[in-house]
Amino acid sequence: MRASSSDLAARRRQTLGPTYQNFYDQPLHLVRGEGVRLWDADGREYLDCYNNVVSVGHCHPRVVDALCRQAATLNTHTRYLHASVVELGEMLVARLPAGIDTCVFTCTGSEANDLAVQIARAVTGNRGVVVSEASYHGVTELTRTLSTDSYPAARRPDWLAVIEPPNRYRGPAGYDDPEAATRYLELARDALDALDARGHRPAALLIDLVWDSNGPLVAPGGYVNALAAEVRRRGGLVIADEVQSGYCRSGANWWGSTNYALEPDILTCGKPMGAGHPLALMATRRDIAEAYAERCHYFNTFGGNPVSAEVGKAVIDVIDDEGLLDNARETGAYFESLLRELAARHATIGDVQGCGLFWGLDLVVDRDARTPVTREQMRRLCSLIVAEGVVTGHSGRYGQILKLRPPLVFARADAERAVAAIDAALARFEVEPDG
Ligand SMILES: Cc1ncc(COP(=O)(O)O)c(C=O)c1O
Repeated sequence: MRASSSDLAARRRQTLGPTYQNFYDQPLHLVRGEGVRLWDADGREYLDCYNNVVSVGHCHPRVVDALCRQAATLNTHTRYLHASVVELGEMLVARLPAGIDTCVFTCTGSEANDLAVQIARAVTGNRGVVVSEASYHGVTELTRTLSTDSYPAARRPDWLAVIEPPNRYRGPAGYDDPEAATRYLELARDALDALDARGHRPAALLIDLVWDSNGPLVAPGGYVNALAAEVRRRGGLVIADEVQSGYCRSGANWWGSTNYALEPDILTCGKPMGAGHPLALMATRRDIAEAYAERCHYFNTFGGNPVSAEVGKAVIDVIDDEGLLDNARETGAYFESLLRELAARHATIGDVQGCGLFWGLDLVVDRDARTPVTREQMRRLCSLIVAEGVVTGHSGRYGQILKLRPPLVFARADAERAVAAIDAALARFEVEPDG
């Protein structure tokens, strides 16, 4: 690391404290981005194969222009009339799943999920919430409690029902099980019965439709809607957390919900909406919005401000004009084919899961036993990959998933470069997994 970067790392430790972590053994000091490219303080160029926040690419000129123009004109909040936030709402409603016609803007996905669960509790009168094992939904007190990957199971409140995510590689029903959907549904029913026995009815199912913190995963056909029906039968609403699965990520549709023909009662989104600018959404049906408004009003000082709204509009325009949904599907399919070829060459890759431009390699030290690599080993592998010039990250219940989730402007040549870098890094890793 160059001297000025190591000095910055020391000052950061001193000032920002231990809560902030770095991805790699040698912290990456990035100073510039453009499209899928990043540059560090030494001028070294990297391919970004991880950051979905910059959905339409780093520093997209149309997004930057929209931001600068509005910032130079006016920035206020939703207590005044302004066209931009209304126009953004209209653009979103035209793209949202059927029945979702009302938008409330926040700054983060955490705020959007927090509000969604507050609304579900208020309108159903129930307290219970259903989430997946190893889920992640945010950092407010409520959403952290709903993030089962963030704290020990012994501390879970009695109103939380935790269900098994549909992991066909590691879960109780595998790829070869034709009854997988039923099996996962039965497990969910057991968790709901246990919730009932603890004296709680569900207010909501909060479901990430790509199970990012577990995968990404793709659920067996029929599972999502059967689960939604079960929760609704017991009085709960369905909240689709589309922070990860939304905004064309899956390549098939704008929303992960649509991939499963799910019509959620509430949908939340965040990260990709502002391509790097803090903009997030809680959207719902009018009857739910009205029932909640009878109880209280919502005002978020920065949520839906004119600058954020202009940025949000520009992001949607870029997605449409550059055909990024088609790109996520077509480049995503090519990326998948390269990753499957890679898996055939490396015994460390136990499974390839995902869709569109969101892929996960489930890495193992023993393919037969499916023993996951350790978190330390994964950190080492990611450091080896970044040394090859490609930025990746990791997730998973055991930290064993190499997460590949680039901006939607990722091209075929980028997919080839990413796979070549992972190939080279895996070759080194397989010789010395512990460094
Ligand atoms: C599925 C999911 N929901 C919610 C959040 C929280 O969003 P934010 O970090 O914008 O608060 C995240 C963030 O990673 C997420 O992945």
